Amino acid sequence: MQIEPAQRLEGAIEVPGDKSISHRYGILGAMATGHTSITGFSTSKDCWSTLACVERLGCSVRKVGDDVEIESDGWRAVKSPEQSLDAGNSGTTIRLLSALLSSASIKTTIAGDESLNRRPMARIVEPLTRMGARIVARDGKFPPLAIDGTQLAPICYELPVASAQVKSCVLLAGLTASGKTTVIEKTQSRDHTERVLPVFGVRFEKVGTELSVWGPSEPRGTQVHVPGDISSAIYFIVAALLIPGSQLRINNLGVNPTRSGLLTLLRNSGARISLENQREVSSEPWADVTVRYDASFLENFPERIEGSWIPNLIDEIPILAVLGTRLKNGLQIGDAAELRHKESDRIQSIVQNLSALGIEIEEYPDGFAIPPGQQLRGGTIRTFGDHRIAMSFAIAGLISQDGIEIDEPACADISFPGFFDLLNLVSRTASPS
Ligand code: S3P
Repeated sequence: MQIEPAQRLEGAIEVPGDKSISHRYGILGAMATGHTSITGFSTSKDCWSTLACVERLGCSVRKVGDDVEIESDGWRAVKSPEQSLDAGNSGTTIRLLSALLSSASIKTTIAGDESLNRRPMARIVEPLTRMGARIVARDGKFPPLAIDGTQLAPICYELPVASAQVKSCVLLAGLTASGKTTVIEKTQSRDHTERVLPVFGVRFEKVGTELSVWGPSEPRGTQVHVPGDISSAIYFIVAALLIPGSQLRINNLGVNPTRSGLLTLLRNSGARISLENQREVSSEPWADVTVRYDASFLENFPERIEGSWIPNLIDEIPILAVLGTRLKNGLQIGDAAELRHKESDRIQSIVQNLSALGIEIEEYPDGFAIPPGQQLRGGTIRTFGDHRIAMSFAIAGLISQDGIEIDEPACADISFPGFFDLLNLVSRTASPS
């Protein structure tokens, strides 16, 4: 697919429901007793993987447009699936569902596609095993995971990596264990699980860096609403900020501060992004966001991003790298070694692709550095089957001089089906002056 330079983005749009939030609502819907009704459920392939697994575990799942209805008899009552569960490309599916699979009276195997089967699972196998789970991972660390469900014991666990997936896995497993399970989180990661537990009637407490649940707990089915995914909207936001004459409104967007690190950095630098109708829905902050072109923020954007910023913008680093080619002071990313364990090795994917486009970039074990004063001309990039690389470099195409060819655009469907159509819809040619 060839992406040509764009002249202006304009319109009012919505993006698909938040992927992280949809996974959690779907899994909690399966663990809860009764009826869970979810509006705005993500259309991403990843979230359909979660729903397909939930269905295989004996829950009734009904989809009507973007709304999903789940009927379950609770986590104790899920059934052994006839075949191995397929998490597809989705790390959140396998890591969060493993909590349920480890604690229900069932035997299952769960695996994923080629990319997921190379991603690290020891980070969840280790705490779950300490809780008494019986899990065998390939080579002790990769999918498939063969899980023989059993009664789990509570745990106090300090996270060795800043990972919302590991945190959520331990908290969900804690719901089934008798007593208090605590996760100690020194660096804040996305907090969607913590926010929604009480909505499902579960006791949850946060004291400083200690997050606790009490089990055995019986979550109750409820009604929840999913906001638009900030990690999907960010491609449009960055494009509108960079393409002269653009003005774009994105309605019903999730603006959870543990997810919106890049939005905050942009606004702190003076980018013209306004948040209207700020409200709270299902314990999550929502807003309607308007973005206007204004390149002056490029001079004020911090030249180095590291430390506690990283978990709050981890999925946005590929598009941040594209933006980095325009920043007046260049861009350095540090403390982001986790990027090497995503759908692709994202440090390598970014470095190889920007290099292929003629951008000077230096690779480090935990990040990269893009010197200032460069120009994105054009060329061909490889997605490595990674949805966020495909979408980030589509935006690179829009702001490039000569356009960019993307080898495998269809992988965008992993998080954002319809991404290229929506991009076409809001792209305008300049009106004659
Ligand atoms: C996610 C957490 C992050 C993120 C991923 C989704 C989640 O992963 O990169 O896209 O939904 O909890 P880690 O928990 O591995 O940091």
